Amino acid sequence: MHHFDYKDGVLHAEKINLKELAEKIGTPFYCYSARTFARHYRVFADAFKDQNALVCYAMKANSNLAILRILAEQGAGMDVVSMGELLRAREVGVPGERILFSGVGKTRDEMALALDMGILCFNVESEPELHVLNEVAKSKGMVAPVSIRVNPDVDARTHEKISTGKKANKFGVAWEEARRIYTMIAEELPALKITGIDMHIGSQITELDPFDDAFSLLKELVRDLKRDGHQIDHIDLGGGLGIPYATEDNPPHPDDYAAMIKQRLGALDMKLIFEPGRLIAGNAGILVSEVLYVKNNDEKIFTIADVGMNDLIRPTLYEAYHEILPVDEALGKRELRKMDVVGPVCETGDYMAKGRFLPPFKPGDLLAIMTAGAYGASQANSYNTRPLIPEVLVDGDQYAIIRKRPTYEEILTLDVAPKWES
Ligand code: LLP
Repeated sequence: MHHFDYKDGVLHAEKINLKELAEKIGTPFYCYSARTFARHYRVFADAFKDQNALVCYAMKANSNLAILRILAEQGAGMDVVSMGELLRAREVGVPGERILFSGVGKTRDEMALALDMGILCFNVESEPELHVLNEVAKSKGMVAPVSIRVNPDVDARTHEKISTGKKANKFGVAWEEARRIYTMIAEELPALKITGIDMHIGSQITELDPFDDAFSLLKELVRDLKRDGHQIDHIDLGGGLGIPYATEDNPPHPDDYAAMIKQRLGALDMKLIFEPGRLIAGNAGILVSEVLYVKNNDEKIFTIADVGMNDLIRPTLYEAYHEILPVDEALGKRELRKMDVVGPVCETGDYMAKGRFLPPFKPGDLLAIMTAGAYGASQANSYNTRPLIPEVLVDGDQYAIIRKRPTYEEILTLDVAPKWES
């Protein structure tokens, strides 16, 4: 459920009229609903309220500081994957004991900062990384809390570019190696302390079965590790729960996901950690764009809008479907026409929708690209020297710009004339 609805014939974000907002801000822009963010966090966290659970928001989905503040205020922890994300978590005051550090390529500098911040756990993905972390911690006279990300070789049945739990993917350590690696840590790496185990099998997973299969395997592994004498205080089950992008999509509700987990892992009686990203951010944001031109090539209609693949890369990168709504409700009642909605970027892959039945847009019409709160702004770039677009947060009848559109001067001065050195 989200807070983007038609009122008086115009699409609103909470109580803000998007047509009026577009006139003030200029298009394109991302628009978020503060209430939806808070609500989605609560729905997920409440699903586990009778269990010992910590929800660490995967901020890669949307890492704007204003968004992180909303979630931190709700008590969320953070799952980070880089120096920049660590600094964002610190900036909004998330305590170290609620921060997890994931990712296959952590640098020594990132490890050192995370140790200084006293994070809850490093989710380690390889043996070489364990050795480096041991060295970094030892050189600082510290002990690093670690959990190993294990790869269960389970098919998450999602898009191949966001599937992470198969042997062929770069993530985690091989299942068969896990026990040996845990023993190696205990025996050979004194600056590391085993605290848990970790798994993340992919993103936008719309069925419970892949999770169920993976968590069943995990349960066996945890039992073996305990039998081997390791102290496993927590199980990190990652993120990945899917969301509806189209009205007919029906992914599992967090309550059903929680019930399955309770049934599968309840007996283990240990702390559960989750890393949801999309589930919290996806439906809490939209992208508002203006139609520039409409052209017909050989009967094919191209609606050319001012939003490009640099602003929202999901349609072209993952063949992702994003619903497109006219901001003017009456337009949606007109006879639909089959069209491509494309952007100004000089690439054939620059589209928001292909072969989609949509209203007959004309220049100046506004469209809303729905479910763009996750992996939208956070994956944007400035290809074709297009400025990163602004982000606007709405709360009730108020709005605030939470990332401003850079000026062209700011963009051009990032490049510097060569000052040769040798
Ligand atoms: N934990 C780890 C270790 C992850 O790699 C990810 C996402 C998450 C948690 C959060 O997963 P979520 O709950 O959001 O599914 N850019 C792609 C999605 C990439 C996901 C990367 N990792 C997209 O737009 O579909």
